[in-house]
Amino acid sequence: MAELIVALDVNSRQEAVDKVKSIGGSVGFYKIGLELFTSEGPDVVKAIKDLGKKIFLDLKFHDIPRTVERAVRSGGKLGVDLMTIHSTGGKAMIRAAADAAAEFGVNGPKILAVTVLTSLDQSDLADVGIAGRTPAEQVAAMARFATENGAHGLVCSPMEVGSLSKSLKVGTLFVTPGVRPAGAAIGDQKRVATPAEAVRDGATHLVVGRPILAAEDPVAAAIAIRAEMG
Ligand code: C5P
Repeated sequence: MAELIVALDVNSRQEAVDKVKSIGGSVGFYKIGLELFTSEGPDVVKAIKDLGKKIFLDLKFHDIPRTVERAVRSGGKLGVDLMTIHSTGGKAMIRAAADAAAEFGVNGPKILAVTVLTSLDQSDLADVGIAGRTPAEQVAAMARFATENGAHGLVCSPMEVGSLSKSLKVGTLFVTPGVRPAGAAIGDQKRVATPAEAVRDGATHLVVGRPILAAEDPVAAAIAIRAEMG
């Protein structure tokens, strides 16, 4: 059964806590990203955990292996459930992240790799020295590379999840943003899928922000999305 994660894209701890309280029991998992973490730090993670929620700490680490290992260990101590790294950090970095996560046992953090940021196109890839592969080929290659080197799963777009979930080992996590319930505003997302499509294609976790946070009735919006997830 796929899980719904709400992206807590706000920038103060108070706003984050208020949102989570108002959504209540209909959502059990929240994503804290760079904006909120940079403004409020680990305290906001603790505050949301104290409300009984699971945490996806989306800080997309990309550094030398030792630094990433220590950062993942810090996340494990905070009790987060999912953390992100960039697959382009290399084998040793991915391994170091997975090894640090493993120290916390089965309930420790799971490491998700970002393959290619969805904001990059072919010419952006060429600018950073990745020539001769389309973004889709680079996504497929990095997905394999990351999971073969210890990543538990991937952050991927709903457009990619179908082919990746067929080609990677069973048990791999597929966390997909860019999900919009049928009829919802798409905002600045370009390629979206409905919750039902994403789950059908193999997503294990859906990340949804504005369709819930900005809804007039966030609880009803979350319940409707969960119903669409099946
Ligand atoms: O509001 P919305 O549902 O578009 O929020 C999606 C969340 O997923 C945001 O936190 C956004 O940063 C994140 N995300 C994304 N697309 C990616 C990677 C992350 O929308 N490729």
